[in-house]
Amino acid sequence: MKALGEKIEGLKVLFTSDQIQTRIKEVADKINTDFVDSEELVVVCTLMGAVLFTSDLIKHINVPVKLEFVKLSSYGDSTTSSGKVKPVDLTLPSLEGKDVLLVEDIVDTGLTANFLLDYVKMQHKAKRVKFVSMLDKACARKYPVQIDYAGFEVDDKFVVGYGLDHKGFLRNLPYIGYFPM
Ligand code: IMP
Repeated sequence: MKALGEKIEGLKVLFTSDQIQTRIKEVADKINTDFVDSEELVVVCTLMGAVLFTSDLIKHINVPVKLEFVKLSSYGDSTTSSGKVKPVDLTLPSLEGKDVLLVEDIVDTGLTANFLLDYVKMQHKAKRVKFVSMLDKACARKYPVQIDYAGFEVDDKFVVGYGLDHKGFLRNLPYIGYFPM
């Protein structure tokens, strides 16, 4: 069994834990600036991939935060998008008049992000909705989406670690990597 943080055989590291944490602080600084006047920021974490990113990001946010979760699935066990978003749990409290920050792990085709943004904007009368994604696979985009804050841009590779899984595993890696073909 590999120890946490130990390199997995064949896995190439794209972003180290230190790089990720440094970038998260920079992203949080921008969010703090934009929401400086906010009385309440509802941070909506998309399960499961965004859970590590969300938990590190909110530690640096200095306006009052309420944390909520939605659960979606689009990849299943595959390494390519199924082309369909499967809403597993979209239960949210009323966001009327609230500031909302939607948090995703990675924007690939853009399908999931569009689904989520439409859902929050149509169902809830939020005051402001901003969207943050840890990774932006811009070259794979099929459905345009405005990412207000992005951690890192990545090439069209299947990446794992730091919340991102392959068949349910590798989410716990503190770094982000990929398996070269
Ligand atoms: P999209 O709907 O095509 O933008 O895909 C978004 C979702 O697919 C993400 O929230 C991830 O759960 C998953 N995903 C996309 N690319 C990757 C990847 O490279 N590794 C792991 N999961 C991915």
